Amino acid sequence: MFIVSLIFISPLIFAQTKIDVDKEIHDAALQYQGILKTHPDITKFPQSYSRDGKVMDRPSDWWCSGFFGGSLWYLFEYTKDTKWRNEADKWTMAVEKEKNNTSTHDLGFMLYCTFGNAYRLTHDTSYKAVMLTGASSLASRFNPDYGVIRSWDEWKGYDYPVIIDNMMNLEFLLWAAKASSSKKFYDISISHADKTIKNHFRKDYSSYHVVCYGEDGKVLKQGTHQGYADDSAWSRGQGWGLYGYTVMYRETKKKKYLKQAEHIAQYILNHPNLPEDKIPYWDFNDPAIPNTERDASAGAVISSALFELSQYTKEHKEQYFNAATTMLSSLTTPKYKAEIGTNGNFLLKHSVGSKPHQSEVDVPLVYADYYYLEALLRYDKLMKTGKLVL
Ligand code: GLY
Repeated sequence: MFIVSLIFISPLIFAQTKIDVDKEIHDAALQYQGILKTHPDITKFPQSYSRDGKVMDRPSDWWCSGFFGGSLWYLFEYTKDTKWRNEADKWTMAVEKEKNNTSTHDLGFMLYCTFGNAYRLTHDTSYKAVMLTGASSLASRFNPDYGVIRSWDEWKGYDYPVIIDNMMNLEFLLWAAKASSSKKFYDISISHADKTIKNHFRKDYSSYHVVCYGEDGKVLKQGTHQGYADDSAWSRGQGWGLYGYTVMYRETKKKKYLKQAEHIAQYILNHPNLPEDKIPYWDFNDPAIPNTERDASAGAVISSALFELSQYTKEHKEQYFNAATTMLSSLTTPKYKAEIGTNGNFLLKHSVGSKPHQSEVDVPLVYADYYYLEALLRYDKLMKTGKLVL
């Protein structure tokens, strides 16, 4: 019996580094108890903590409003402590009104991290109804003549900008397709993903941040909003693309999406500017490297995505699992992980929101914590069971 299970799990035993997930979740719980104390008002969503020691909050219509509730669900999932379930539910319901928000493409982040995890963990159907309304709101931003979901209403004079981040909303739509048996959500996801492969990606599989479309779906501009330059590889954007195509493969089993995710992974992992600890600089092409900021949020997103992708490939299984583990392990070191009671009680330090706008540079960010916790849970499941069921 022992030998059989060892052989079953053995593809994962190549990890050189072991991460103590119990300890990391224990520390995370202590930190987040602190955030709950400093955030009694559920209309003020924890976002960050400035370098001069100010608590930074955002309203529910900000794209990040789902991450705190989502992280609380991950704490509940691991600890099974109903205290976290109650808090997670509270911060989930705080986002509910965004189900009717048709002015943003970020409903996947806002509603799936909260309600999606809530429904997955509790099977309470009241969460499902909110998500189906939200998915229709998101789908209202899809115009079949363009073939993509509109991210913003305006950018630099263009009225149909689409950002690579939008790939992260497709998991929500594909869930809605299954939950409602509506082919519309599935078709929109396929169309958006296919058109994004065509127009967002360069020959080396790095991606533009923003692509602006004209009336007939023609590309009018390829550029950046948060990266170093129009033709640079903004690190979190590479992570969003990697994660998005990994999910597209999981949900459709179409090989082209697996190939796309693998190409993106190879771009990231083979990049000469990826540091030894595998936490990317904020943009792979910042000429100031190594004298510029890391982005822990990009490291967390990429780590979580690579844990999943490692399950879908024989050829790169070991490479992706090891890289994801190195990233996650780096994030648990004092270089990135905050001491308990510091950092505004956020888990990770050193993320970058938007360097060109000098906004949220080298600070904790709520979404870095969310994907860090997600990666920890994925690592834990892989180490304990040899597989991920998502
Ligand atoms: N979706 C915005 C960002 O990644 O900063």
